[in-house]
Amino acid sequence: MVAVKNSFSASDYQSIRGFLDKSCGIVLGENKHYLVQNRLTPLLRRFDLSSSADLVKLLQSDMPSTRIVKVAVIDAMTTNETFWFRDVKQFNDLTDTVLPILLNNRKASLKIWSAACSTGQEPYTISMCAERAQRNLNVIKNVQVIGTDIAETVLTEAKRAVYSELALSRGISAQDREQFFENTHEGYKLKQTIAQRVRFQQFNLLKPFSVLGRFDVIFCRNVLIYFSDTIKRDILQRMAEALEPGGYLFLSSTESMPADITEFESVKGDARYFRKRS
Ligand SMILES: C[S@@+](CC[C@H](N)C(=O)[O-])C[C@H]1O[C@@H](n2cnc3c(N)ncnc32)[C@H](O)[C@@H]1O
Repeated sequence: MVAVKNSFSASDYQSIRGFLDKSCGIVLGENKHYLVQNRLTPLLRRFDLSSSADLVKLLQSDMPSTRIVKVAVIDAMTTNETFWFRDVKQFNDLTDTVLPILLNNRKASLKIWSAACSTGQEPYTISMCAERAQRNLNVIKNVQVIGTDIAETVLTEAKRAVYSELALSRGISAQDREQFFENTHEGYKLKQTIAQRVRFQQFNLLKPFSVLGRFDVIFCRNVLIYFSDTIKRDILQRMAEALEPGGYLFLSSTESMPADITEFESVKGDARYFRKRS
């Protein structure tokens, strides 16, 4: 094992910023040097690198063998904070207003995209809402939820669908725990009725959306904040194209729709959800 030099030079910091901006759109402020150093120093040891300069060389290389290092850097630098029924008003509106409209239309199936799904709480919450809405209306339709994220470690957790008591305590009521989870020796396992509606795929939001197909509802929450204004606008325009006419887009309660993006009309300003204009 080589001796690791812990400090990241200013120029290596700039190179890592450039890599993150180019590969996943994440814009780090000038003052995030310490964050980069904290999160990436363990990777120097893991990949047996002696300094941040060696790491930068790998990030700048086109060799396929460097992919594993690039994936690890992206995994380490993304913020994966999430919880169940986050912004609960939005999920109430999804269950009581949006899904009933969509379930009562003539389409046989619905497709919903959780566009930066982290460890799965958002797409699984959507699946719980779909379960409730169908039960309330007494209809059964094929509702598919796809969860995508750029970071591979969170997707592995999401696919496993087993959560700790602590993770459940963030948004799951006692009643929902009883209804939607089984208590196993590994932790709380999501029941098949909810999990079977959801599939996961690694996907970078900077790439064309056409490979994913079209959607009736898109959740794009707590991710646009990491991007530049240009990338944010580009993603929102492309999401409008990926939505069926009359489809819905949910942003987080702290994000806003730029005024010059005219493809959407606001349904409920405070709940930050929008309908694609027909
Ligand atoms: C803060 S979490 C949001 C999770 C969930 N949407 C929520 O609101 O609770 C942000 C997620 O965006 C993902 N992410 C960051 N850049 C991305 C990109 N370019 N493409 C896809 N996902 C990205 C991160 O890996 C992270 O899991």
